[in-house]
Amino acid sequence: MNPDPTGEPRLDLDDIQAHILPGFGHQHQRFLGWRLPDDDPAPAARALLATIAGRITPARHGLANRAIRKAVRHGLADPAQLTEPPAMAAALSPRTLRALGHPDLATIDEAVAVGMARRSYLRDPPSGTWAVGGPGKEIDILVILAGDDSELLAEATAEVCATATCELVHDQQAHRLPGDVEHFGFRDGISQPVLRGVVDDVGTALVTRTPMPLMPDHRAYAAPGDVLVWPGQFIFGLPRQSETAPARPAPARDMPALARNGSLLVYRKLEQDVAGFQADTARMAAELGTDPDALRAQLVGRWPDGRPLVGHADATRAELNHFNYDTDTPDIPDGPRGAGADPDGLRCPLAAHIRKVNPRDQETDKGPPAATLAFAILRRGITYGYPSDSERGLLFLCYQTDVTQQFELLAQRWANNPERPRQGMDNGVDLLIGRVRAGTPRRARLLDGEVSTFTDYVLPRGGAYLFTPSLSALREMALARDSR
Ligand code: HEM
Repeated sequence: MNPDPTGEPRLDLDDIQAHILPGFGHQHQRFLGWRLPDDDPAPAARALLATIAGRITPARHGLANRAIRKAVRHGLADPAQLTEPPAMAAALSPRTLRALGHPDLATIDEAVAVGMARRSYLRDPPSGTWAVGGPGKEIDILVILAGDDSELLAEATAEVCATATCELVHDQQAHRLPGDVEHFGFRDGISQPVLRGVVDDVGTALVTRTPMPLMPDHRAYAAPGDVLVWPGQFIFGLPRQSETAPARPAPARDMPALARNGSLLVYRKLEQDVAGFQADTARMAAELGTDPDALRAQLVGRWPDGRPLVGHADATRAELNHFNYDTDTPDIPDGPRGAGADPDGLRCPLAAHIRKVNPRDQETDKGPPAATLAFAILRRGITYGYPSDSERGLLFLCYQTDVTQQFELLAQRWANNPERPRQGMDNGVDLLIGRVRAGTPRRARLLDGEVSTFTDYVLPRGGAYLFTPSLSALREMALARDSR
């Protein structure tokens, strides 16, 4: 089946923030979080929004920048073209939305309204210990700046900070590591859902469709490994994924008009204990008589260079995401080879990180594989700290339109639960990110046996659930006079 984009909704690339679509691919990013004063927060909010509202990068610009970046990588464009002004994104807390006179936006999502610090079932350390988002350090306005030139980025940061009249409670630098690996050494950012949608009147698809045979899982793909998802899962006001019929859209949820083209941002600072991970996985490997690198790959579901455990040992770049778990994927003529199925986790453990957070064509406790598409997230994370730093980790960011049913479902219902997403067997937790009750070991069934540990390789250090408005909504909020 070659999915035809006719009937897919138009995406407004001038109104959607580029950080949502396609994300910032820049080398450096800076995360600035301000907290509004308790007394009379509106003027400070409006002053900061007035500074940034006209400077937020639209999706159209982000897509053009991504094309240039690709051309530079292939030696087809001059790297000087990348030294443009830094890209910018902004997201707001429910408190800011209320202060600006939009209580309806402040309550569009229950998890966002309640706040990350009160979602105890994530099993985060107490928010009093958090580096960001704990008492007195709550982010009301988050601004993300991104650039390839660190000096231009520092200048843009100073400019924004100079105009803010409220307290800067969070200032976090982040940098991509060579090869786009995260700090445990694994390549990240390989698998992402692809948005359905067209970008002009003649029906040009946002992402070009490659003719493909019907996949055994009956889901539609833009290209091998690039599964298509209706854009309302990530952007408000657009058709969403149906949990039973993936090719047909479910209507957009009823939302206040100002939510249109906006999204919900999960921002989490996740510290990585690299020495602890290396030592503890070496111990487990010795106990099982396994090679330590093979054991680490089993925790992720991929080798450090991105090759999936269920795929070919010599998988090419085009083959990194063309695989499923319950069914064989076909060879694509003149394209990637297919991979054999692994329904029972004999090549990739059922507890492996990528298998926990995206079981692909596997039936889950939530229903048939079509349902899993509705839990997809758009990941926009970036590493912080360098290998020589004592403190380093991942700034985990993702977009969705329902935090409970997307990010929290993956983190809490699946990664933290030993008997899910596949039911009927205790396969253990996701040993990368899974969290269990204090005082109990984290366990997982790997290929050569069960392992158990009291070491947390990833330590949540706080964050925020925020609303990311469209460019037009942000302008409207900045310009509106005090409505009280
Ligand atoms: C420090 C913490 C984390 C590390 C080191 C990490 C690492 C990785 C790596 C190496 C991959 C494979 C690359 C890829 O398939 O794109 C991956 C994939 C993924 N991760 Fe994480 N991750 C972390 C936290 C999280 C969290 C908190 C979530 C959400 C609950 C998450 C969700 C995902 C998803 C959805 C995928 C793609 C799976 C697929 O589609 O096959 N990750 N992660």
